[in-house]
Amino acid sequence: MRILVVGANGHTGRRIVDRLRAGPHEPIAMVRDPNHVAHFEQMEVRTVVADLEKPLDPALEASAAEALIFAAGSGSKTGPDKTLAVDRDGAVRSIAAMEAVGLRRYIMLSALGADPERQGSPIAHYLRAKGIADEHLRRSDLAYTVVRPGRLTFDEPTGKVDLAPDLDSGGSISRDDVAAVVVACLDMESTVRKSFDLLAGPTPIADALARL
Ligand SMILES: NC(=O)c1ccc[n+]([C@@H]2O[C@H](COP(=O)([O-])OP(=O)(O)OC[C@H]3O[C@@H](n4cnc5c(N)ncnc54)[C@H](OP(=O)(O)O)[C@@H]3O)[C@@H](O)[C@H]2O)c1
Repeated sequence: MRILVVGANGHTGRRIVDRLRAGPHEPIAMVRDPNHVAHFEQMEVRTVVADLEKPLDPALEASAAEALIFAAGSGSKTGPDKTLAVDRDGAVRSIAAMEAVGLRRYIMLSALGADPERQGSPIAHYLRAKGIADEHLRRSDLAYTVVRPGRLTFDEPTGKVDLAPDLDSGGSISRDDVAAVVVACLDMESTVRKSFDLLAGPTPIADALARL
């Protein structure tokens, strides 16, 4: 499949693109800044320039993608307005664009603790924004997977994880392992219309996903 990676220039997005380049799928990098196109073209990865704060249907259609991985985020350096504009509304816009162009497979990189009603956390506004987008996706007819990792690190990949619909604990996981999980989901029917928490752990990724 041709996979549109939304947020391809991000720390996790670049790792997802790299994994997809190994095959059998083809990544298409969605970037918002035209200056980021060269990085991907050097690797012979096709790009689409689009901003999540604007309608996405034309970019999605032009990309000829067959599935989408959402790895974008407003980041910790922007204010709550961008959290709503990107993490909530941008994600919802991407779901609507998938429905508008008739695509089905959607993998959402969400966050541990995402919940539309979340209170009592310094990042509650972010977790609510992610939770609202996740709920929107779950209510759609799309063949979704919602992946909720803990704190993302730059540690080396281990190929092993702990994942379950509700892990009931906090923790972290490397961006490399998150990228591996997200890409593995594309080929695992057991992950369709499922949501799960994801942390570093002892179980090989394929085994953990197969048990979902
Ligand atoms: N950081 C954590 O500990 C953590 C924990 C759990 C879940 N997550 C989630 O995991 C995902 C990846 O996180 P990360 O830290 O690897 O991401 P990141 O490095 O902050 O990258 C985010 C990407 O989103 C892009 N982006 C932002 N606004 C956009 C817009 N309006 N239109 C198009 N693209 C836009 C950025 O583009 P530019 O390159 O142009 O800036 C960037 O490439 C995010 O969804 C995040 O919410 C993060």
